Amino acid sequence: MQTNVDDIHRQIEQYAVTSKEELEQYRQRFIGRKGVVTELFESLKTVAPEDRRAVGQQLNGLKTRAQERFDEFTQLLDEQPDSSPAPVDLTLPTAPSLTGTQHPLTIVRQRIIQIFERIGFTVADGPEIDSDWYNFGALNFPLNHPARDMQDTFFVQKNSNEASPDDMVLRTHTSNVQIRLMEQQRNADTFRPIRAIMPGRVYRNETISARAHCMFHQVEGIYIDRNVGFKDLKDTLYHFVKEMFEPGTRIRFRPSYFPFTEPSAEIDISCQICGGKGCNICKHSGWVEIAGSGMVDPQVLLNCGIDPEAFTGFAFGMGIERITQLKYRVNDLRLYTENDVRFLNQF
Ligand code: PHE
Repeated sequence: MQTNVDDIHRQIEQYAVTSKEELEQYRQRFIGRKGVVTELFESLKTVAPEDRRAVGQQLNGLKTRAQERFDEFTQLLDEQPDSSPAPVDLTLPTAPSLTGTQHPLTIVRQRIIQIFERIGFTVADGPEIDSDWYNFGALNFPLNHPARDMQDTFFVQKNSNEASPDDMVLRTHTSNVQIRLMEQQRNADTFRPIRAIMPGRVYRNETISARAHCMFHQVEGIYIDRNVGFKDLKDTLYHFVKEMFEPGTRIRFRPSYFPFTEPSAEIDISCQICGGKGCNICKHSGWVEIAGSGMVDPQVLLNCGIDPEAFTGFAFGMGIERITQLKYRVNDLRLYTENDVRFLNQF
């Protein structure tokens, strides 16, 4: 009897169940009406009367333990996730698919391109790493011009302490593409008018803050042909502002200076945020600058092999971030590159 009880104790402790079926098997084998514990209780009759009390106690212990194990197993199974697959309801709508959204800079760049393509401009592209000649020299930047300075320009390769045309830089504007376009005329038999815009990334050595970034985007444009005048420049940019901004937006040309244009003008529009009344964005002036522009300097045409007596042209350049800020009221430049979906989802 004693060895039997010990043996069953061991079996109970070593038992494991992984399913409801196995739990039922356990129940039948140990605590059911025909189980081994009941059987042992029945054989109590055959035990000598003086031992019966002690054996009875042992059997009660066994019975309690068997029941405890049963409760443990039941709890364990309850905690386990149900492995049987849930029935499929084919009539349920599908989960929404998470498609991305276009970046606000992309939306605005596409819109700028669309506006200019519709009036006959093509889109041109060029290198982001270019020589000092294409970024500065050909554009008439004097050798000691501060824009060439290490403070503004990321030099990729500097050949000496002096500026040299074959130093390599991260372009500080997309005007390098204008030079490359004009230069293509050098070996052409007949002059073909140039009317193109050049969107792209540009780099300047600035500390990143809400108002400045070391990488941003520009769209520049150029139009060279016979008899292109300042009126054409004004017409083109008036048209652009009318298409791009709210109806009633005012525009003004302010005299300015760029080494590669003469005369030069900066273009302001009435502030899109306050409507011209004055706010933080327009520094309470009612106007915000959106572009630089001017008539291409004859020396720049000469640098590219174009006869300035026969041909004239205008050029302009604007920052895509600035236009986007005015359209969408984004007041921190860092948001454009942080890739925060809470920002991106709004466009
Ligand atoms: N390249 C100038 C800049 O990056 C913009 C500009 C382009 C000005 C063409 C005049 C004409 O600031």
